[in-house]
Amino acid sequence: MRVLVTGGAGYIGSHTLIELLGQTHEVCVLDNFTNAKPVVLDRVRSLTNGKVSCVTGDIRDASALDAVMTDFAPEAVIHFAGLKAVGESGRKPVDYYDVNVAGTLALLHAMDRHGVRRIIFSSSATVYGEPEYLPYDEAHPTNPMSVYGRTKLMAEHVLTDWAAANSQASAVLLRYFNPVGAHASARMGEDPADYPNNLMPFIAQVAVGKRDKLQVFGDDYDTADGTGERDYIHVVDLARAHVAALDYAAGHTGARAFNIGTGQPYSVMQMVTAFRRASGQAIPTAIAPRRLGDIAKMQADASRAQAELGWQATHTLDDMAASTWAWQSANPDGYGD
Ligand code: NAD
Ligand code: WQD
Repeated sequence: MRVLVTGGAGYIGSHTLIELLGQTHEVCVLDNFTNAKPVVLDRVRSLTNGKVSCVTGDIRDASALDAVMTDFAPEAVIHFAGLKAVGESGRKPVDYYDVNVAGTLALLHAMDRHGVRRIIFSSSATVYGEPEYLPYDEAHPTNPMSVYGRTKLMAEHVLTDWAAANSQASAVLLRYFNPVGAHASARMGEDPADYPNNLMPFIAQVAVGKRDKLQVFGDDYDTADGTGERDYIHVVDLARAHVAALDYAAGHTGARAFNIGTGQPYSVMQMVTAFRRASGQAIPTAIAPRRLGDIAKMQADASRAQAELGWQATHTLDDMAASTWAWQSANPDGYGD
């Protein structure tokens, strides 16, 4: 299939390109490089010997969208492009609604103009909010606790209504849990622009000596060891879920949400222990106050993805830690300048 990949130069998008090319899909990236570097695509090319065309442009730019849809004639879109920092979303809500919601609307308008009827969307487990029960299944009520989460839920609503109004349309909403890890080559991984917001890249930067210690945000949660528990998903497993979703979209119309996680939560301290094991580094920690807006525990019921997409995570916690360490230690400055 010819697949337009918005945000394809980013962390999850770039790993997905590799899996798509491995399955003989054709890809074209549309990215404005606000949170990615062009060298990423060179690495994808060298790892796959595949053709990766790229248009530098914004998903909110109708003329850029028309040009790429005319030239590449995609049969499906995988829509990663967006802003993703929860804290920043509260400070810059208009930017987040503009890129994540208006950007999705602009993309759908362009898809309608060009007769493209399949879309795979990067949603997030954050749409669920405070758990009423765990593990979350896809029927769990949605009540996001941040601007970022609300933009993702709004985009889900837009895509669901779009699919309902077009008898041939298919929208697959992938609700990612916590993506971590790096490609097995150690040539691709997560490269936070400045101060890492998320646990795994922070641990990796402590391990490689770029930061003194990890602050553990709260050790008095109602969890096994008192630190927050999350359902971490290896980025290569996550990338493969997109390939499975493309196959699903080819055979189904309407909108459908899928949790993409392992179903096995780990605590902050379990992540640190795994990383110490993988890296042989000390990784100093200090207990700090809880982070505003955090919840104690998140866990996916990913059985729908297994039953309907034929997808299941295969990477272990040790794979997540070892691949992150291999990437971070070989590329202490990420993709560099
Ligand atoms: P990322 O920032 O690495 O990738 C996003 C890409 O989109 C970047 O390459 C960026 O340059 C591009 N982009 C941003 N705004 C754009 C615009 N207006 N036009 C064109 N390109 C634009 O993020 P990621 O971690 O790869 O996440 C990909 C998607 O998955 C995002 O939509 C994110 O919200 C979602 N998601 C991420 C996580 C996570 O923890 N990483 C979890 C759940 C959902
Ligand atoms: C994980 C755990 C922290 C950093 C976020 C978004 C979510 C999704 C994934 C996009 C928590 C603890 C963290 C640190 C710590 N992104 N922690 N010290 O908050 O579960 O999810 O990323 O869709 O929407 O909210 O991930 O990696 O920030 O935190 O103790 O320096 O690690 O308190 O328990 P989170 P995270």
